[in-house]
Amino acid sequence: MSGARARKPTPFRVLVTGGAGFIGSHLVEGLLRQGHRVRVVDDLSTGRRENLAHLDGGFELVVGDVAEPEVARRAVSGMEAVLHEAAVPSVARSIASPLPSHRAGATATLVLLEAARLAGVSRFVYAGSSSVYGNTPRLPKREDATPCPLSPYAVAKLAGEHYVRVYAAVHGLQTVTLRYFNVFGPRQRADSPYSGVIARFITDLSAGRLPVIHGDGRQSRDFTYVDNVVHANLLALGAPGLLGQAVNVASGRRITLRALLQALARETGRPAAARRELPRPGDVRHSLADLSLAGTLLGYRPLVDFETGLRRTLAWHQSAAPAYADALRRDVEAGSTGERPAGPG
Ligand code: NAD
Ligand code: UD1
Repeated sequence: MSGARARKPTPFRVLVTGGAGFIGSHLVEGLLRQGHRVRVVDDLSTGRRENLAHLDGGFELVVGDVAEPEVARRAVSGMEAVLHEAAVPSVARSIASPLPSHRAGATATLVLLEAARLAGVSRFVYAGSSSVYGNTPRLPKREDATPCPLSPYAVAKLAGEHYVRVYAAVHGLQTVTLRYFNVFGPRQRADSPYSGVIARFITDLSAGRLPVIHGDGRQSRDFTYVDNVVHANLLALGAPGLLGQAVNVASGRRITLRALLQALARETGRPAAARRELPRPGDVRHSLADLSLAGTLLGYRPLVDFETGLRRTLAWHQSAAPAYADALRRDVEAGSTGERPAGPG
């Protein structure tokens, strides 16, 4: 894993919430490689055991909903640090169904912070989102811009950020929000209309279907390969001076959806044609990160650029994805639906 530093870090006992998900499973892998002891808590709503199967154990898995105080209490017990990834990570899904998004984004973050404080956890790293900026007038987006979330998902992620900041100020917990910008890579799910655009486009092109572009395709994103996000989290585990700040984590370059489709078409030998649909409500127009604060606070700079990340993701889709899709299907047939279970919120 490319997030390793030259100096061997002090091993910590680390809880990864949402650790069976796309980003969470890469974090678990990165943590184990650095010799940390890892516990995962996940309700398996969008996450899958299969995402961790290649790690052959070596970590503990607690299945449960971290918005439940008792689950959170058990999950943080004995831990020194928390990487909090659990959420329902889709803008579009939060518009169709806002309450689960709020519960997993905002409520679960507060429940977990409180459990962490009571358990004497010293460090709390929160998976924030660039969606909190909304359509800020200035690009690149800097952390001192006034947030203006455009969807229930982004509101919930921003509420989580405020709790993270307040727990540093009021309780002295070492906390930080890492505002991820459109993350992509192996194991990102592509099987739902709410899946990330890169996973969707690759799957559609591979199946010979026309990808769907919402709007004119001129919207842009700072697409970030998942190894960069792992790198930032590992740095945040050891960085001094964490006082609840929010910090961008991205690649620092923006790509339009049209350019993305062209790049994928070039790589796969398929035509760069798409079906146009209406723009999605709540959609941000442009996204590009300023990475100065990430550099000064964490020593972060992106390790893997967009093109390299895209090629690695395509290679995964071409080699491992069919077996992975079969395993997901078996998993679903064995009783888990892949959808959030019914419950409060
Ligand atoms: P994911 O759906 O693969 O991972 C989320 C995980 O959290 C899943 O394993 C899911 O089962 C679990 N989960 C959800 N609610 C839970 C709950 N209440 N209790 C326990 N587990 C729960 O999505 P991802 O893309 O890996 O996102 C991880 C985090 O990164 C999220 O917090 C998301 O908001 C944030 N983020 C993602 C992106 C992106 O582009 N993927 C960008 C910005 C921020
Ligand atoms: C993504 C993340 C979200 C994160 C946010 C900010 C996912 C599912 N969502 O939201 O968790 O907080 O970045 O970093 O990873 N689109 C199409 N066709 C498709 C799918 C999407 O045109 O088939 C368009 C969307 O309308 C949007 C863009 O592609 O304009 C990106 O969409 P998506 O991948 O869902 O990500 P965000 O909404 O930016």
